[in-house]
Amino acid sequence: MPRDLLADRNTLDGMSQLTRDTKEPASSSPPEDSIPAPSYSPTVYVEERFKKMKDVHPFAQLLNSEDLDDCDWVEHAAFDPIEAASREKLEYRLRTCGELCSGLFTSGYPTSSGSLGSVIKTRNFPSIDSSDADRKRVLLGHVIATKSSAKVVTDDAMDYPKDWQTKYQFTPSIGHNEDGETVCIHSLCIHPDFQGKGLGRILLKSYVQRIKDSGVAKRIALICRDKYVVFYEKAGFSKIGPSKCQYGGGNWVDMVMDFEGGMSDDDADF
Ligand SMILES: CC(C)(COP(=O)(O)OP(=O)(O)OC[C@H]1O[C@@H](n2cnc3c(N)ncnc32)[C@H](O)[C@@H]1OP(=O)(O)O)[C@@H](O)C(=O)NCCC(=O)NCCS
Repeated sequence: MPRDLLADRNTLDGMSQLTRDTKEPASSSPPEDSIPAPSYSPTVYVEERFKKMKDVHPFAQLLNSEDLDDCDWVEHAAFDPIEAASREKLEYRLRTCGELCSGLFTSGYPTSSGSLGSVIKTRNFPSIDSSDADRKRVLLGHVIATKSSAKVVTDDAMDYPKDWQTKYQFTPSIGHNEDGETVCIHSLCIHPDFQGKGLGRILLKSYVQRIKDSGVAKRIALICRDKYVVFYEKAGFSKIGPSKCQYGGGNWVDMVMDFEGGMSDDDADF
């Protein structure tokens, strides 16, 4: 497990046994995928949710073009069609700046049956078990990003040069800019079967830590819908205000995490 996930793992390991586990026979536990949140006290529900994440044994790794099929699949499973990046755009980003992209993976079954098994079945992965040396890593979610010279995400940063395979430029006016000081997150998503288990939070946390520690940028910027503002604020991002991006129909909010100090609303015009 990468070092940046160890703290979360230690926290999980330190958690007390669940009330359900200690007071009820195991056979009366609900199926893993149908834990009914409303019937639990908030404390027990949170513990159940974290127990499920722990069972998945997630690990983060850099992405590259070999992950294109998986990223394309997860992207289109998680996002509305109007928001999902096209396969061509994903390929551009993975090939030109895979070092800015992270995947959250698992490599085994959390239980003998359950949603991970169905994911593997759907994806036509070969049968795997703990003794199978050829077992595949399974993508649960990803962060896809590029760099930009602007301080917030722009439509130009969201786009990509259509001739990049024949005329690659290091600092194009659209797409990934090698000299840019802002990492622009274009996709953060978790496979729908695994949402609500804390994986999005842990993927974002590990990603932010890696980018910050690497020193490749002065800030991370993204655009999100209103409903996700609190999620990103809890991760350390600041709400700048309405974004000018028209991508996916517009109506986005600019969020920024500045590693060198805050930025004002005026900076969003940069
Ligand atoms: C957004 C996303 C990555 C979050 O990942 P996740 O694993 O489901 O989220 P987590 O379980 O880590 O939850 C983290 C927090 O986000 C909140 N959250 C998750 N999904 C949410 C939603 N749809 N609306 C509002 N808040 C949400 C949770 O309540 C949780 O808060 P808490 O810790 O205070 O309870 C995931 O839901 C997803 O892939 N969504 C579809 C793609 C998308 O829209 N991505 C956002 C692009 S801006």
